[in-house]
This record gives sequence, C-alpha cells and structure tokens, in this order.
Amino acid sequence: MAAVGSAVGLGNIWRFPYICGKYGGGAFIIAYLAFVFLLGSVLMMAEFIIGRRSQHTPVLAFRALCPDKKGWGLVGVIGIITSFIILSHYLVLSGWTTGYIWHSVSGALSALGTDADAITAFFSQFTSAVGSPLLFLGIFSVLCLIIILCGVQKGIENISKLLMPLLVILILVLCVRSITLPNAKAGVDYILAPAFSKLTGEGILAALGQALFSLSVGMGVMIVYGSYIPANDNIFKTAMWITVCDTLIALLASLAIFPAVFSCGLDPAGGPGLVFCVLPNVFNSMGGTGVFFSSLFFILLMVAALTSSISLLEALTAWFCEHTGASRKMSAILFFALTSIIGVFISLSMGVLNDFKILGYTIFDLVDRLESIYLPPLCALGTIIFFGWVMPEKDIKDELSNHGSIAINVTYPLLRFLARYIAPLGLLIVLISGILS
Ligand code: TRP
Repeated sequence: MAAVGSAVGLGNIWRFPYICGKYGGGAFIIAYLAFVFLLGSVLMMAEFIIGRRSQHTPVLAFRALCPDKKGWGLVGVIGIITSFIILSHYLVLSGWTTGYIWHSVSGALSALGTDADAITAFFSQFTSAVGSPLLFLGIFSVLCLIIILCGVQKGIENISKLLMPLLVILILVLCVRSITLPNAKAGVDYILAPAFSKLTGEGILAALGQALFSLSVGMGVMIVYGSYIPANDNIFKTAMWITVCDTLIALLASLAIFPAVFSCGLDPAGGPGLVFCVLPNVFNSMGGTGVFFSSLFFILLMVAALTSSISLLEALTAWFCEHTGASRKMSAILFFALTSIIGVFISLSMGVLNDFKILGYTIFDLVDRLESIYLPPLCALGTIIFFGWVMPEKDIKDELSNHGSIAINVTYPLLRFLARYIAPLGLLIVLISGILS
C-alpha cells in the first residue's frame, strides 16, 4: 500500500494527461502501456529484489551485492540526485494543488464559470505570481514536515487507505461528467483512435520517461522500499499489483480530462497547466455542487501528492542517514529545507525568472526533462544491467521464490529474459534516439 501511495501521485493525474495530449493521445497510450509492462514492472521487481536482498539504500545496495565489482554505486548516486530534483519540483506542483483547494473553497474558481479562457488566464496568473505560489509551497512543505516529525506514519497510512479509494471514486464521477458534456466524443476518440503520426521519437522518449516517473522507478526509491518488504511477501505479485493500479488511475484520469478538453474547446497539448485549466470547467458545469466537488478533488489530489512527497523524502533521508549516521529527524528537516529552496527557484521560473534560461530551457522545463527523460532512463539502464548481468543469479532466485517457498518456473525465466535482453535494449534504443534527436 505504501508503494502504491508512492506511485500514485501527481504523475498520474497532472502529468500523464498533459504528456499524453502532447504526443497524440491513443498512440502515446499504446507506447506507454508497452513501457510500463515490459520495462517498468521489470525494473520495479529488480529494485525490490536489490533492496530486499541487500538491506541497504541505493548506493550501498549495489556495492553490498557485488563487493568485488566497483563502480555500480554510481547508479545509486544518479538515483539519489534524481529523487532530489523530483522532490523540489514536486513541492512546487503540490503547492499549486494546495492553492487550488483554497481557490475552490473561497469561490474564486467557481466565479469564473465555464469561460475556458478566463480559467486558463487564472492559472497562468496564479503560477506566474511571486507571493501566492510560494506561500502555498511553504504551507505544503511545512505540512509534510509536521507529519514526518510527529512520526504519524501510521496515521498517514490510515488516511491514505481511506482517501485514495475516495480519489478513485471521484475520478470515476468526473469521467462520467466529462463524457456526458456536449461534444465530448471528440475527446474519447482522441484517446481511442491512435494518431501514430503524432508519436514522434521525442514522444516515445516521453512515454518511457513517464512510465518510469509514474511507477517511481529508475531513481532507487523502490530499492529503499524493497529493503522494507517483509521476507514472506511475494515480490512478483506486489510489483504487478502496483503497476496495474498505477496504470488504471492514469488511464482514468485521461478519460476524465480529454472529453472535457474538447468539449470546452481547449488545446489537448495545453502543457503543465492542463489539469488545472480543464477540471474547473467540469466542476463549474456541475452547478451548485461544483464547489464541493472541486474542493474535494483538490484535497484528495493533495493527499496523493503528500504520500508521494513523503516517500521521496524517505528515500533521501534513509540514504543520508546510512552514509552519515545523522538522525532521521535532522536529515528530514535538512532535505525539506534544501528541496524547498530549489523549489522557490523552480516556482519563480514560471514568472519573474522566465527569461532565465539554462541550455535554452527555463528552470521548470529543464527540471521536468531531467526528472523524466534524461536521468531515470540512465539510472534504470544501470540498474537493469546490474540486475540482469552482474548480480548473482542465486540471490535473485532466492528473493523471487522467498527462499524456495513460491514456484518460480514461469515468473523467473520471464523476468530473466525481460531483464537481460528486452529492457536494456529498449532503454538503450530510447536513450540513444533521445540524444540524437
Ligand atoms: N510516482 C509519483 C507520481 O506519479 C512521482 C514520483 C516519482 C515519486 N518518483 C518518485 C514518488 C519516487 C515517490 C518516490 O506522482
């Protein structure tokens, strides 16, 4: 459940629809599904096995499993850097989500009615300002910190067990509302009728990046989680379960978004603001109950962001503690402070720092690319080569079969084949084509 909480987050509801819209809807989804099941789930099992076998955090895990082969710790280092970048970015987006709770409750969003242009303008005004996005970023970070410092991990587990299913139900309600809007069929077609011409090389790279981001793999976080998995849990089943849940939620989110996009005459490739610009239209078309549904939706989305943020922080904290011996509390505070500071710059790059470019990208865009299409595939490639070709086979069989108590005569050969050939080859092709394009 904790890993589902980590995987299901803004990536499913905010990120998936806008990337999917940009790269051709249905065609993107087909590429995404292939990556999720052939690469993502395999990587998740690999990370779980590396973590549970070694009982270490990313860098030391690689070293502990093959002490005589040097250099593999670097894969873990890339993972830690990626997690750091993702958390900084995540705090900004979670801040937007928190802000939208306030704007829903205060009635500012519903006052915009179903005027799509006004809603879009509201979003860009909100995110490009200085004060309010930073205020909400601060509120969200402090909330995370309080939860962690109070040590109510049990509490958050209970809250998310209750609220996550509620989020799914609410997304289903939104799907129904969205599909029954006038002219919604164009949006359904957009998802179901694949436009392969729009799926460029860049789109395929984005599909891979999104698959890894959404499953929280390719950054070592699942190695940390793997080290917490009880000895008698079935790793294959656990990983498949998480993969299926995560994917279903992403698909439902796009079914809630795209019909409404077309119904409101918005651009499906609307960029990072897509969810924030489309859903208020849907809520406001619900009449009097809109404010209630809108507030509820953004609260649930914030909880999804909260569970993901906390688990990202968990990985960074566990890694730092293992290397320095610092206390968990101190490390948590340190990393929240550092990522919030970077978050301030990411947030400002939506407005006042918009002209500040690194390699031609704003800070926001650069971070978005780093955390999805460059670093995770690299870390994933290292992890899967280590898992398929370097790590002792006996360790893998032992972990997959729980020391011989589960039959693995189908799952092991399948995992082995995918991990040795298909996954590395796929990652390599996508990485090279990404660099060349
Ligand atoms: N998977 C999360 C989402 O879909 C985002 C994420 C990426 C994440 N890497 C992570 C969350 C590591 C926790 C840990 O929103």
